[in-house]
Amino acid sequence: MTQHDAVEVISAKRDGHPLTDSQIDWVIDAYTRGDVAHEQMSALAMAILLNGMDRSEISRWTAAMIASGERMDFSALSRPTADKHSTGGVGDKITLPLAPLVAACGVAVPQLSGRGLGHTGGTLDKLESIPGWRATLSNDEIMAQLERVGAVICAAGDGLAPADKKLYALRDVTGTVEAIPLIASSIMSKKIAEGTGSLVLDVKVGTGAFMKELEKARELASTMVALGQDAGVHTVALVTDMSTPLGLTAGNAVEVAESVEVLAGGGPADVVELTLALAREMLAGAGVTDVDPADKLADGSAMDVWREMIRAQDGDPDAPLPVARESHVVTAPTSGTLTRLDAMAVGMAAWRLGAGRTKQGEAVQAGAGVVWHARPGDRVTAGMPLLTLHTDTPERFERALASLEGGWEIGDPGERAGDPLLIDRIA
Ligand code: URA
Repeated sequence: MTQHDAVEVISAKRDGHPLTDSQIDWVIDAYTRGDVAHEQMSALAMAILLNGMDRSEISRWTAAMIASGERMDFSALSRPTADKHSTGGVGDKITLPLAPLVAACGVAVPQLSGRGLGHTGGTLDKLESIPGWRATLSNDEIMAQLERVGAVICAAGDGLAPADKKLYALRDVTGTVEAIPLIASSIMSKKIAEGTGSLVLDVKVGTGAFMKELEKARELASTMVALGQDAGVHTVALVTDMSTPLGLTAGNAVEVAESVEVLAGGGPADVVELTLALAREMLAGAGVTDVDPADKLADGSAMDVWREMIRAQDGDPDAPLPVARESHVVTAPTSGTLTRLDAMAVGMAAWRLGAGRTKQGEAVQAGAGVVWHARPGDRVTAGMPLLTLHTDTPERFERALASLEGGWEIGDPGERAGDPLLIDRIA
């Protein structure tokens, strides 16, 4: 590998020049090995945030991050693979019903997931509220479970894109998370290294999402789709609304319970709609076009895969889920139509109740979270319960209630509420 100098690479990007392939390969490799210092990489990340990267730079940057670690290979499996990645939202439990549903349709789902940080929940934190369930699997266990059950949701191992792990932690504390080239390469390096044959991206837009503006969400989506295609992974993105939280719950055990309702053929309409839309895209990406996933929810086969998937990771699908020790009900002050329920306000409240963490490694409360009893567009009457807050530590109610202030509105009966859930499709 050609040797470069960190200051030369930083200055090139500071002055608005594209980085060469050789500079990119060197800087990612040297940073992973510790030869480029954190302060140098933070200066480079800020220069990238300010001056951007063109498509070939982003593609090379992603390839260099993939090359920093191992690459999994599922080509020996007897069925095709498809995965989904969401850029993160509030009440976004979709992975839980989606993975077993797609597996029930004949496509294997290797869903290597993360934990929540801040107001967006983490899939592993949610599943860990199921008694006995284990997030960490070896690569051999992942392969065996994919072959036997068809779906795995587990922790991404340290071997996948270690450069991203280091860089993401640095971006988190240097105000450089929001750069589209860095977000796109961060997400796609992990997904491509994971070895899925096809990928569906759920790019969230709205108050509770990374991307608050539609144009930025579209740009992120098309950047990631191009990266996937450059790497030979069939990739499609749906841009979906995250100004309203998904379903009726945000937290850990409360979201598992709602996911089980969907698998049982019920559950909130928006969760079912998004689960089916993503399932159809995953199946099409994997070349399966003759199965309707709605049938697999209705006939119980998705639920059967869920139960097997939980058992395979030592969880008990029949065990009662943890319930928080304390609850607090917020009632509707007037009658009318709920016209707005803000995703960020609900996400912050769930986080402050103990469903999320403030630093990496902190424990979360399995029973903590928010349950809402009406969705935008629903009629509410004065005095009815609007939201129920759950926590083991009642001293948290005050700050959670503060974050909900101004987070919902009741308007005139019949007033229009909310935006459509599915906003765009980018392929
Ligand atoms: N998720 C990631 O994995 N990386 C980012 O940069 C942002 C969200």
